[in-house]
Amino acid sequence: EGKVPHVVGVMGASGDLAKKKIYPTLWWLFRDGLLPEDTAFIGYARSKLTVAELRAKCDQYMKVAPGEEAKYEAFWKYNRYVAGSYDTRRDFELLDKAFAEFHKGSSEVGNRVFYLALPPSVFETVTAHIKETCMAPKGWTRIIVEKPFGKDTASSAKLSSHLSSLFREDQLYRIDHYLGKEMVQNLMILRFGNSIFNPLWNHHNIASVLISFKEPFGTEGRGGYFDEFGIVRDVMQNHLLQILCLVAMQKPCSTRADDIRDEKVKVLKSIEPPTLNDVVLGQYVGDPSGSGEAKLGYLDDPTVPAGSSTPTFASAVVHIRNEKWEGVPFILRCGKALNERKAEVRIQFKDVPGDIFGGMAKRNELVVRVQPNEAVYVKMMTKTPGMSFEMEETELDLTYRARYKGVKLPDAYERLIVDVFCGTQMHFVRTDELAEAWRIFTPLLHEIEGKKPTPIPYKFGSRGPTEADDLLAKNNFKYYGTY
Ligand code: BG6
Repeated sequence: EGKVPHVVGVMGASGDLAKKKIYPTLWWLFRDGLLPEDTAFIGYARSKLTVAELRAKCDQYMKVAPGEEAKYEAFWKYNRYVAGSYDTRRDFELLDKAFAEFHKGSSEVGNRVFYLALPPSVFETVTAHIKETCMAPKGWTRIIVEKPFGKDTASSAKLSSHLSSLFREDQLYRIDHYLGKEMVQNLMILRFGNSIFNPLWNHHNIASVLISFKEPFGTEGRGGYFDEFGIVRDVMQNHLLQILCLVAMQKPCSTRADDIRDEKVKVLKSIEPPTLNDVVLGQYVGDPSGSGEAKLGYLDDPTVPAGSSTPTFASAVVHIRNEKWEGVPFILRCGKALNERKAEVRIQFKDVPGDIFGGMAKRNELVVRVQPNEAVYVKMMTKTPGMSFEMEETELDLTYRARYKGVKLPDAYERLIVDVFCGTQMHFVRTDELAEAWRIFTPLLHEIEGKKPTPIPYKFGSRGPTEADDLLAKNNFKYYGTY
C-alpha cells in the first residue's frame, strides 16, 4: 500500500492558542514519530505571514532540546502558510489548493484534519467554508473544535445545529483537554478494571465526592476574555463536569466511544441543575504583601470591566438523581489565584458503622490526583506501629513519580490529536453530552447574570472563600486536610 498523506490545517494559525499550544503539540508529535509519516501542516489566518514569521512567533513555546535542531528544521519544511479572510470563498479555494498540493503525487487518498483555533465569532463562517470548498475529495476530513462551545443552552444549540448541518458526528472532535489527562483517563480503568472499588461505588458507602481545580495564578492580563465567561463556564461546566461523569457513570457495555458517551449522557440527564443557593461564588482581590501578579486583584486587571461581578472562584453542589447516587452530594470547586495548582477527585466514604474506637477513625478517602504529581491513594486508618494499640491515618499510595520512575506522561493535547488521527472519539465530547452540560448550568449562569450577586472577595494566594469550606461541611464532606 502506498502512503496516505495527511494534512493538518491550523485555522487561526497566527493566534495565541496556535502558537502556545497547537504548533508545539504538532511539533512534539512529529518529533516523537507519533503522526503518520509525511504529515504536513498548513496554517491559515488573516495576517500575511511567511512560514519563517510563523515559526518566529512559535519558537519560544516549542521547547526544542539540544540535538533536536535538524528534526526541528524538518518539521518546518512540512509547513505552509496561507493568508486569507474568514469569510471569502476565494481564499478558502486557495487553501484547498494548498491541501491538494500536498496530496498530489500520491496515488492514494489524502486525509485532512482542521484544527479550529478561532474566536467564536468566526466559527460558523469558517466551518461553512471548509464544508463548501475544503473537504478531502477522497479521504476523510475531521474537525477539531475548542471551547467555548456557546455560552448557554441556546447559543450552544445554535452552534451545534450549525455544525451538525455540515458534518457527521464522527467528523467532529470537540476538545475538553481534561479528557486527555492521564489520571482522568485512568478513572475508567480504576473503576472497571478492579473488583474492589465497584461494589462500594454507590450511596450505601460513599458519603460525598469533591472534584476540585485550583490554580495559583490570576487572569495574567487576559481578564477581558475571561470576564465574558467566568469560572463556571471556563472550568466547571466542562472540565469538572466531565470528571464527574467518569466518576459517577454506570459501567458502559463496552469501551467503544459511543457506549461510554451514552453512559455519560445518562448521568448528566440525572443531574438536577444547581441554583444560586447551592453555590459559593468568589472573586480574588490583591494581596498587598504578595509579589508580582499577587498584588493585583481581578478588578485591577485593566482589561476587566470596572466593577465586574464575574466569579473567579465557584463551588457548587450537584445531586445526581438516580438509584446509585441518591443522597450523595457532588461538590465541584474551582478557582483562580488560589494557594496552589491542584486538580483532584476525593471520594469520601461513610463513617465506619458500629464504631468501637471512640470516634478516632477518620473517614476513608480515595483520592485521584490529576495534577500535579499524578497519584491515586487511599486514606486509611492503621495501627500506630509499636507497643501501643492506637490508630493513625496513613495512605495506600500509588504516586506515579515513585512507581513509574522515568515514565513520561504525554501532554493532554498530544494524546487527543493522536486520537483524531486514529478516529477514536472516546475522549471527545458528543453533541448530546454538550447539550446536557449546558442544561445543567444554564439556569445558574442566567441567575448569576440576572441578579449579579456580589462574589465573596478572597485574597490572591489563599484557599478561596471560607464559605466554600462551610459548603463542604453542609454536604457531608469532612474536611481534614490542606486541600
Ligand atoms: C482551560 C481554561 O480550559 O484550562 C483555563 O480556559 C485554565 O482558564 C486551563 O487555566 C487549565 O488547564 P491545565 O491543563 O493547565 O489544568
